[in-house]
Amino acid sequence: MAPTPLGRFPRTRMRRNRRTDWWRRLVAENRLSPDDLIWPFFVVDGEGVAQPVASMPGVERLSIDRAVAAVREARDLGVPAVALFPSIDQALKTPDGREAANPDNLTCRAIRAIKDAVPDIGIIVDAALDPYTSHGQDGIVENGQILNDPTVDMLCRQSLVQADAGADVIAPSDMMDGRIAAIRDALDADGLAGCGIMAYAAKYASAFYGPFRDAVGSAKNLGAADKRTYQMNPANSDEALHEVALDLAEGADMVMVKPGMPYLDVVQRVSQEFGVPTFAYQVSGEYAMLQAAIANGWLDGEKVVVESLLAFKRAGAAGVLTYYARDVAAKLNG
Ligand code: PBG
Repeated sequence: MAPTPLGRFPRTRMRRNRRTDWWRRLVAENRLSPDDLIWPFFVVDGEGVAQPVASMPGVERLSIDRAVAAVREARDLGVPAVALFPSIDQALKTPDGREAANPDNLTCRAIRAIKDAVPDIGIIVDAALDPYTSHGQDGIVENGQILNDPTVDMLCRQSLVQADAGADVIAPSDMMDGRIAAIRDALDADGLAGCGIMAYAAKYASAFYGPFRDAVGSAKNLGAADKRTYQMNPANSDEALHEVALDLAEGADMVMVKPGMPYLDVVQRVSQEFGVPTFAYQVSGEYAMLQAAIANGWLDGEKVVVESLLAFKRAGAAGVLTYYARDVAAKLNG
């Protein structure tokens, strides 16, 4: 091979900044820390219960006593907040989901127990009726229609009992119109001005929620029906900005994009456009995909999970709701 003539080398060598570990760390643009993670988990009635969720290997529905211990562990790992989802006894589900507004429902009992035992972790709770409705929809149904305004009334009642029980942040995940303003006003009028709102602002009608619906036991209730009259069309992105603008104008403190990885473009647009704390939800179906591939040895779990979460940071997310929160926090602390 003939020698390269002098002066014909690349002056800019991108590989220089990648040569060593210290160098790569020095020039890293984003990093993942336990502070970025919110841990979603599922509660059920009973004591000493930990029921595996078949479509989410590694995830269990926990009775309140077990949930308290698990949340304490999350706190000890430096996870700032958890998101609690109830799996409600089928016998308590009704067409109007009124169990959602019962101050002694499973959700409120779990909130109180956690607040009492682990007061220094943030408790985020959904406002949505699907865990409580006999038809599995997020709203009240009449003649096959999801009624917006009566649903918002119920969501306000649900938010109040949850905030009263000690929830720090209400996360409306129902996609009804006008619910952020209504919930904000209801909280303020009830002396709960300190309770925040994380709006599921850009929430898509996604097939990636399937395993979650198994976990909260709403999949069978919903059957073949879908949520396309209130959740967003996966084809749209400008509409996400409109949704976020409305939720912010109505008083949301933080916004969320959901699902996560297939919607990183939306995360990026929202975080750049508004400059407000923007969260992404790495949803149950994303978790299930990764777990399935990891279990088969097709993906390296040690690497792929952290990479998937770092991608959210790069897109501009302030943090990520992920079923991996505790494992990843442990690893990052390691
Ligand atoms: C309830 C709700 C859902 C999720 C969070 N809150 C399901 C849905 O809207 O059908 C999905 C979370 C996940 O898939 O991990 N409205």
